[in-house]
Amino acid sequence: MNIVKDLAKVAMVTGASSGMGMETARRFAKEGYGLALGARSVENIEKLARSLENPDQVMTSALDLTSLPSIQSFTKSAQDRFGKVDVLINCAGVALGREPADQGNLEEWRTMVETDYFGPMALVRAILPGMKEQGSGHVINIGALAALFPHPGSAAYASAKEGIRMFLKCLREDTLGAGIRVTNIDPGITDTGFALTRFRGSSEAVGKLMEGFTPLTSRDMAECIWFAASLPAHVNIDQMTVTPTDQSSPTRLHKRQ
Ligand SMILES: NC(=O)c1ccc[n+]([C@@H]2O[C@H](COP(=O)([O-])OP(=O)(O)OC[C@H]3O[C@@H](n4cnc5c(N)ncnc54)[C@H](OP(=O)(O)O)[C@@H]3O)[C@@H](O)[C@H]2O)c1
Repeated sequence: MNIVKDLAKVAMVTGASSGMGMETARRFAKEGYGLALGARSVENIEKLARSLENPDQVMTSALDLTSLPSIQSFTKSAQDRFGKVDVLINCAGVALGREPADQGNLEEWRTMVETDYFGPMALVRAILPGMKEQGSGHVINIGALAALFPHPGSAAYASAKEGIRMFLKCLREDTLGAGIRVTNIDPGITDTGFALTRFRGSSEAVGKLMEGFTPLTSRDMAECIWFAASLPAHVNIDQMTVTPTDQSSPTRLHKRQ
């Protein structure tokens, strides 16, 4: 294994195979970061790595957040390659279905809790000792506007995202004085593959949601993530909520003719 330990900064980006994670990897690559990219779709992250400024500063590895051995193997590969992680960016996430709670599919609920809540916690647990040792680090998590407002058809997804938000608040307490920054960013509707997954592949349902409406883009979100990371080490953004101008809550959208 080729060990690269002289890089100024290293970012670990989950969900880099698509949407916000992919755009965030591009943004951090432009800034000269070494990158550890993870997702289940390895082909996508390998293709992304080849397209970046410095492909030799990029590590790609399969990551399935529903599997603890996969999380451990991913973080070990990053550690072997770079010897450190300066910024952990949890972009990976999933929402499945919009049924009311009495009709929810338990396997889908488990997938959401593992991907959006337990997996990111396990990743933080794996990289935190290294950050404490180096006396610096930044955990940036992509939550969801859905976590901030109770609304129908989102019980499992919204509560998983709300759970990770409280985990991060506690993490902030546990790491106070260690030089570690913790940021949670809650986006509203963003034009990625997310809605298509949520609507189980129905492009008609996605089209209806987006009709007459301008969502955020992955690039908008990558800029917000970069903004939080680029501030001086003594500045911590605890919480950022980012919405399309025409969205005020998960259920209130202004549609234009
Ligand atoms: N788009 C929105 O409207 C919206 C709104 C609020 C919050 N969010 C949040 O924003 C984040 C980014 O999502 P996105 O909008 O960029 O959606 P996306 O394009 O669907 O990307 C989701 C990413 O998560 C990865 N992922 C899913 N399950 C995984 C698993 N078990 N293990 C590892 N990686 C997994 C996917 O990669 P693989 O399939 O290759 O594993 C993919 O790279 C998510 O946390 C999502 O909950 C999105």
